[in-house]
Amino acid sequence: MTENHEYTITKKIKLANSIYLMDIKAPRVAAHCYPGQFIILIADEKGERIPLTICDYDREEGTVTIVFQALGSSTKLLADYEVGEAFRDFTGPLGQISELVKMPGEELRSKKVLFVAGGVGTAPVYPQVKWMKENGFEADCIIGARSKEFVILEEQMKRYAKNVYVTTDDGSYGMKGNVNDAIKHLIIDKKHNYDIIVAIGPMIMMKFVCILTKELGIKTIVSMNPIMVDGTGMCGACRLTIGDEIKFACVDGPEFDGHLVNFDEAMKRLSMYKTVEGKKLLREREGDTHHHKGCECHDE
Ligand code: NAD
Ligand code: FES
Repeated sequence: MTENHEYTITKKIKLANSIYLMDIKAPRVAAHCYPGQFIILIADEKGERIPLTICDYDREEGTVTIVFQALGSSTKLLADYEVGEAFRDFTGPLGQISELVKMPGEELRSKKVLFVAGGVGTAPVYPQVKWMKENGFEADCIIGARSKEFVILEEQMKRYAKNVYVTTDDGSYGMKGNVNDAIKHLIIDKKHNYDIIVAIGPMIMMKFVCILTKELGIKTIVSMNPIMVDGTGMCGACRLTIGDEIKFACVDGPEFDGHLVNFDEAMKRLSMYKTVEGKKLLREREGDTHHHKGCECHDE
């Protein structure tokens, strides 16, 4: 493994089955990053570029916290790294700072905010909730997971959120049901009022949260995680349709107005990127946005 000591792993915790948290020594990223932004990690000389949303950062220690699920071959390889070993590259901070962090203080103070964190998406929610508390703003948080063993960062979230509500699909912990059941319970049954919902999790979850919150008339911010390659707006891999505009998650996002996101298109693109034929089809259709040879669409 690489000799580069700048990106050394200083902490590794298994949060749940196949979900890992790591602190990485990356002083330059730690000095400049904010909630909502992401990094691109390359483990070794042969490693793929892996985009991960920042879960936490410690400016004094010079560390950045990442959370990932070891599902594909690249992330499984990451999970084999241990404390003291180092990654080859750790580029960031990339993308835009979270909308709430950029909002003027007086405006944010007048808003009731609910975070909806789904599964591994709890990791990118955490720095936003922490930032809110540290800057004098309150927020509630729903953590949704398939079952008890997949609930992550609950204790950490409780330190910063005013109220944390846990829901599991199988009812093994907290409320039984998906995150929409929890949103309905809070807003319709308990009559809680929220002005802004921030939903981060699987695309299918964000899609259905947005359908519900549109009906309820509540502004909703989502963090999109399409395929990313270069992370600089050049390759077109992370292209999304937002309202009637084309946007690139890596430079324009990853946060967007959830009520404007074309989720069906985004999910279709995600599945097309998994096959060589699908990649070629995207390249033929979107030629001019794929103007950079670094993109995986260019197989030749
Ligand atoms: P999961 O499948 O365990 O689901 C998490 C929560 O979403 C659960 O509470 C579940 O009930 C809810 N959910 C799922 N489908 C829903 C629907 N149709 N309506 C309402 N709620 C629904 O999540 P997981 O296995 O941790 O998710 C992994 C996925 O999350 C990966 O695809 C990964 O790419 C994505 N992810 C996204 C981000 C992001 O920034 N948006 C960050 C990390 C991971
Ligand atoms: Fe966004 Fe390439 S990853 S344009």
